[in-house]
Amino acid sequence: MRVSSPTERRLAALGPRLRRQLERLYGSTGLAIWPRLEAILRERAAERPAAMAALDEARLADPDWFVAPDMLGYSTYVDRFAGTVEGLIGHVDHLESLGVRYLHLLALLKAREGDSDGGFAVADYLSVEPRLGTMADVERLAARLREGRISLCVDLALNHTADDHAWAQAARDGDPHYRAFYHVLGDDEAQAYEADLLQVFPTTAPGNFTHVPAMGGQVWTTFYPFQWDLNWANPEVMLAIVDTMLRLANHGFEAFRLDSIAFLWKQLGTDCRNRPQAHYIVRALRAALDIVAPATLLKAEAIVPTALVPPYFGADEGSDWDGGFEPECHLVYNNSLMVAGWVGLAEQSAALPHAIVAASGGLPRGANWLSYARCHDDIGWGAVIGDLAGIDPDPVARLTIAAKFLDGADGSWARGEPFQSDGSVLHGSNGTMASLAGLEAARTDEEREHAFRRIALLNALSIASGGLATLYMGDEAGLLNDHSYRDDPDRAHEGRWLHRPVMDWDALDRVAALRISGDIRALRTARIASGGAGAPATIATSTSALLGIACGSDRVFLNFSPHAVQVGDLAGWHDRVADTPIGDDAMIGPWSVLWAGPSA
Ligand code: GLC
Repeated sequence: MRVSSPTERRLAALGPRLRRQLERLYGSTGLAIWPRLEAILRERAAERPAAMAALDEARLADPDWFVAPDMLGYSTYVDRFAGTVEGLIGHVDHLESLGVRYLHLLALLKAREGDSDGGFAVADYLSVEPRLGTMADVERLAARLREGRISLCVDLALNHTADDHAWAQAARDGDPHYRAFYHVLGDDEAQAYEADLLQVFPTTAPGNFTHVPAMGGQVWTTFYPFQWDLNWANPEVMLAIVDTMLRLANHGFEAFRLDSIAFLWKQLGTDCRNRPQAHYIVRALRAALDIVAPATLLKAEAIVPTALVPPYFGADEGSDWDGGFEPECHLVYNNSLMVAGWVGLAEQSAALPHAIVAASGGLPRGANWLSYARCHDDIGWGAVIGDLAGIDPDPVARLTIAAKFLDGADGSWARGEPFQSDGSVLHGSNGTMASLAGLEAARTDEEREHAFRRIALLNALSIASGGLATLYMGDEAGLLNDHSYRDDPDRAHEGRWLHRPVMDWDALDRVAALRISGDIRALRTARIASGGAGAPATIATSTSALLGIACGSDRVFLNFSPHAVQVGDLAGWHDRVADTPIGDDAMIGPWSVLWAGPSA
């Protein structure tokens, strides 16, 4: 008889939740893999390092640990930030000086040779990209970060592997076990699916299938032709990914960014996004982590219409079994809020930001939004079409005007570039935060001041709305668009490199960086004082240019217009940033933030 270890107790308690997902996904075949899955869980649990097991216990006792006012995230490519993992260890002090508590490293795992979609074509999930270092380096980094209470997050690209991953190579070599890890279709079948599918990269990688002669058919490739979609209808894929994820957790990763999770399940006659089975897969991964590595967070990257995003936190499945709520991800990107912030700036109106903040309430316990103003991807305009439909009869036309403005239309202060659009189609925009907010185009002190304010405004939206506000590397220093990718044959076709500059460490002492990072620190300090974190709520304001957000004990006002506006009666309130009392007819300047806390 087994000694009742914490894992065995959790297995007994949560195993049924995991088995339920297998049954839903695979029927009785699903239950046939249970003994093998259980063996994987026990093996990985036995290998869990003592420091991680201690973290498991601490976090089980404090499950809301990451929904805290002082949480701040940072996302970066290792090479562009610090060259190597070893080099990054030398820059943890920069993260600490900003107050970072969560670090998402992009493109860390071994990627495909040549073009790898910025590292999202993974050739080996269990090795670090050799240019960057080794898994031993990562373990040292994770330990150093833990000393500073910073949790390390890595991407788990689970929709696809690279075409040179060992599984894909075995499939190409004719191994039937691994061939069944992928979707290989005949021409007619592929065409039948294609009729209902959308396209992620319509100009650089049109279509969703790639003819691969060695595979004898059309391989499903939602993204680039070298990213082969995994066949999650095959329970062997579930076993392989659960095993991979738990091994990574044992290396010291405390969070997984589940990349492109909307796409996991394919069903003819649908757009193959956000299928119920995609949710069951995530719930299975969550249950496996909750059993073996409960300190670990799951973060959903689902860039989909606003209404389809909250289900990635999990769902209440009724009362036919204990508990009712089946959790998925602890964190979910609030992509719509990010898009809305930029639309708000372009339109000089808080209408859309207001709508999205209002739609972002009601989080389950032990969950939070990941909020952000920019990341390594484009700003994809389509996500908010549904939200604008309630505000404007022609949301696409309205978004197209906003996108063109940010792409630098005549008279615009923004310096973005269209992504995957030919000018007529609405898709995405690229650009660093500073270039999009006007710093690149600014020629006078006043224009620079306005750009700084717009940057602070969007950082305030991210911080005051209670999410795990995550900065993208270089934005704290005001780095501008980087056009050098155009000279690199592996990157020239991919406009998102525009906003993935190399960190300029010398820039940190310059005026722009001091101002922008000073504003970020002040906003974070204000949020800590407010005690606010978690689901946001709006406050009514007198003008459509002004967004009001309740953050803990505080009221935060964001002026999206280029004019000063009246906030209303705030007598008895205190400006937390300026540290001055606020009067009864407070004004707020162009593109400015007023963070009001109750007077002591
Ligand atoms: C996610 C990543 C993006 C990548 C895509 C395919 O959306 O953020 O950079 O291109 O997945 O892996």
